[in-house]
Amino acid sequence: MTTSLHQKLEANATAVHQRLDSTMSLQLLAGEIDRPERLVDAMRHGLLNGGKRLRPFLVVQSAALFDVEAEQAMQTACALECLHSYSLVHDDLPAMDDDDLRRGKPTVHKAYDEATAILAGDALLTLSFDLLSDPACHPDPQIRAELTNRLARASGLGGMIGGQMLDLAAESGDPDEAEIRLLQRMKTGALIKFACVAGGVLGQADAEEMARLERYGETIGLAFQLADDLLDVTSDAETMGKAVGKDAGRGKGTLVGILGIPRVESLLAEAVEEADACLADFGDKAQVLRETARFIVDRKN
Ligand code: IPE
Ligand code: IPE
Ligand code: MG
Ligand code: MG
Ligand code: MG
Repeated sequence: MTTSLHQKLEANATAVHQRLDSTMSLQLLAGEIDRPERLVDAMRHGLLNGGKRLRPFLVVQSAALFDVEAEQAMQTACALECLHSYSLVHDDLPAMDDDDLRRGKPTVHKAYDEATAILAGDALLTLSFDLLSDPACHPDPQIRAELTNRLARASGLGGMIGGQMLDLAAESGDPDEAEIRLLQRMKTGALIKFACVAGGVLGQADAEEMARLERYGETIGLAFQLADDLLDVTSDAETMGKAVGKDAGRGKGTLVGILGIPRVESLLAEAVEEADACLADFGDKAQVLRETARFIVDRKN
């Protein structure tokens, strides 16, 4: 019997949770002075609180194309999840989206306080690069340096953080389709693309294979945020584990607002076809990545 994608995602979420839990349970590491308990607790709240763990799954599955050891891929996967979780902690802050609910639980600033949430986010971001620089990530320091550089670029000024800046501006401005696509590529697409190419870096893929992974990552990255904006309109807080109706509530320009639901649904269907085309040359080995593209557009939360 083959394992369904759903079962694979569940198994991945459990493995990611366990590994991140052990990471957060470590005592002092070399060079550390002390670990304030309240900060550790707030980081755990932001990190070990459910979540689909989709980005780690993409790292593991893209690495599997090149027969990278699952254990190695898992270290990169967990580094990325720390960074993603930090982005959510900060995204929810009153100065940004001002949300009270995340992954079905109170947001970190609600459970603790704003200053602690800011610091917990900072510390999760830093932890991400700690994990990526660890030899457990890959024995070859050049590969670790490449992953570090790629993640810094995907998450920083010209990637996720820059995208969050444009996203805030989209609340007061009147962005057109091209501007919204740009901010989506940056705030969400860049990290998802990193997840897909990370497996190629770990597996020392050739330039042509990397280009295919990049295109696949860009396609599903855009689809992921389109689906998020659609679910913000069509789903409910219980299913999503976070508030809905937030984008319209804040007057945020989204493609759902500009193009309407049917057009966004057809864009999502096109994205699945495009993702399939990007993976064609990987053959049967890419079956799980094909199914993941479908999951991203059909997901319920
Ligand atoms: C939410 O990401 C933030 C966006 C980029 C839209 P996810 O939908 O992956 O959130 P979790 O990690 O499963 O909670
Ligand atoms: C979040 O986008 C993107 C991030 C970089 C965290 P949203 O603001 O739409 O994400 P949700 O809906 O709060 O999860
Ligand atoms: Mg936001
Ligand atoms: Mg938000
Ligand atoms: Mg959203």
